Amino acid sequence: MINGKSEPTLFSNKTLLRELDVDKDTPQLYIILKNPEIHQWLGTEVPKNVNEVRQSIKNYCKSNDLYSWAIVDIDTRKTIGFYYLWKPVQQIDGTRIIPAESQRLAKHCWRKGYMKEARKLVYNFAFNELQVEEIHAQVWKSNINSIKSMEHCGFQKYKEVEKTILKYEKKYIECHYRLKKDYLTKSTLIKET
Ligand SMILES: CC(C)(COP(=O)(O)OP(=O)(O)OC[C@H]1O[C@@H](n2cnc3c(N)ncnc32)[C@H](O)[C@@H]1OP(=O)(O)O)[C@@H](O)C(=O)NCCC(=O)NCCS
Repeated sequence: MINGKSEPTLFSNKTLLRELDVDKDTPQLYIILKNPEIHQWLGTEVPKNVNEVRQSIKNYCKSNDLYSWAIVDIDTRKTIGFYYLWKPVQQIDGTRIIPAESQRLAKHCWRKGYMKEARKLVYNFAFNELQVEEIHAQVWKSNINSIKSMEHCGFQKYKEVEKTILKYEKKYIECHYRLKKDYLTKSTLIKET
């Protein structure tokens, strides 16, 4: 149901994206999110307990504004992260865009190709099924892992905004990126496959 709430199941031979399930995914996501490295360049904190994670997943699942997927390792069938994609909106100039996206991947899975596969699946869905013209994403300038991961699949920066980080009580630079279908087509991610 593309215009309803349900997320389509998307998969490659390495990564499966299926609708987040509060009961099934909370225990594994709690373990993943307990690692402080995951939150280092984000406004989020290490969860205090499993209920905090459960509540947060519940809220995201209930939201009609986004698609929320669990990222699953095809081989082990274990949940290794999540992927949130905001639903399309129309800009004043008429452009149909995805305003934001967000991901978390278990530390032991970084740079192993899972996120590359997940991105391919999600962007295929966004450009071909949702027929958006652009996908936008915001990232702290110090989040090198995320910036490299995004630039690898073609995202281009179009502005920087100074903001205050409540968590660290200091100023930081938020980078605004966008991806168009032709950026993706010409990206290293697509060329290497
Ligand atoms: C951001 C995140 C999702 C990236 O996932 P990943 O699996 O580590 O990275 P990717 O597989 O997508 O990286 C794709 C390519 O980008 C480049 N790249 C990624 N990280 C890099 C780094 N630190 N240095 C240099 N190049 C890098 C590489 O070319 C990489 O391909 P390779 O692994 O074959 O060399 C992961 O680090 C994460 O969950 N971080 C914590 C949460 C977070 O910051 N989320 C994003 C903001 S919402």
